[in-house]
Amino acid sequence: MRARASAPGKILLLGEHAVVYGHPALAAALHRGVRIEIAESPDASIAVRSPQGISPPPELLEAALEMAERIGAPARFRAEIETELPLGAGLGSSAAVGVALARALSQLAGRACTDERATDLALGFERHFHGAPSGVDPAISANGGVILFRRGEPPRIERVRLRAPVFLCVALTGIARGTRSTVLPLSERRAARPDVYDPMLASLGELARGGATAIERGDLLDLGARFDQAQEVLRLLGVSCPELDDLVGLLRKAGALGAKLTGAGGGGAAIGLARDRGHAAALSEAVASARLESFVAEIAS
Ligand code: PMV
Repeated sequence: MRARASAPGKILLLGEHAVVYGHPALAAALHRGVRIEIAESPDASIAVRSPQGISPPPELLEAALEMAERIGAPARFRAEIETELPLGAGLGSSAAVGVALARALSQLAGRACTDERATDLALGFERHFHGAPSGVDPAISANGGVILFRRGEPPRIERVRLRAPVFLCVALTGIARGTRSTVLPLSERRAARPDVYDPMLASLGELARGGATAIERGDLLDLGARFDQAQEVLRLLGVSCPELDDLVGLLRKAGALGAKLTGAGGGGAAIGLARDRGHAAALSEAVASARLESFVAEIAS
């Protein structure tokens, strides 16, 4: 028997890192993602085809087998994963693989897989790679659209309805890194000085909450100002890096309504808010002239 499934990647518009500490994050699904095909087979294997041709992490098979056991799917399968997402760029590739795998393995087991169940299974899968993730990545990948997310058991997920699609330029530093590389050091700094770090984390959560209202109203200027403020706080928290600061500066200079890092930081990607699709394409051209990769993302509910 064979099963096929897919799931989108994501961008965090606002609230990354704050979401780890119980504050809200505003997340949006991308049009690009991962596709999985699974077939029963005499032994278990996973192959990954990615744009960078990177070999998959060693924990991947183990994480997939654990998920198969939770679902009650056969333990012997051959999975082929095709991803359009750069790995380690903060665009939710591991969560998207988790959600697509949950859907495909559930089909193989003849079980239903709601978005809630896919979120939960993908969160268990992500723990193999990220330690203690907040769960925002699997939630947005399973639900699609735009959500305001708060961690918890179960997480609180509010769907955000956009007045009109929003266009962004997603620019890549080319530096791949694991989420743990900024999340763990920040948790140590915060444990040492909660008086300094907690108000900054809370302000990021407030920016995300207000960002949801701004995007619902279609107020791009307000959203852009929130991007800029969030970037300043993220920089002070120590999760940006010179390459991201440069990229954010480049996007702003090219006319972005606001720009910030997206995801864990320390490399990965930056986002620039555009007025419309044409403006996002112009931002992308400015990034290309600095010899860096980027793409235009259309966010819709
Ligand atoms: O994996 P990334 O780069 O999308 O980062 C996830 C966002 C963080 O808030 C930094 C971590 C988390 O678990 O929410």
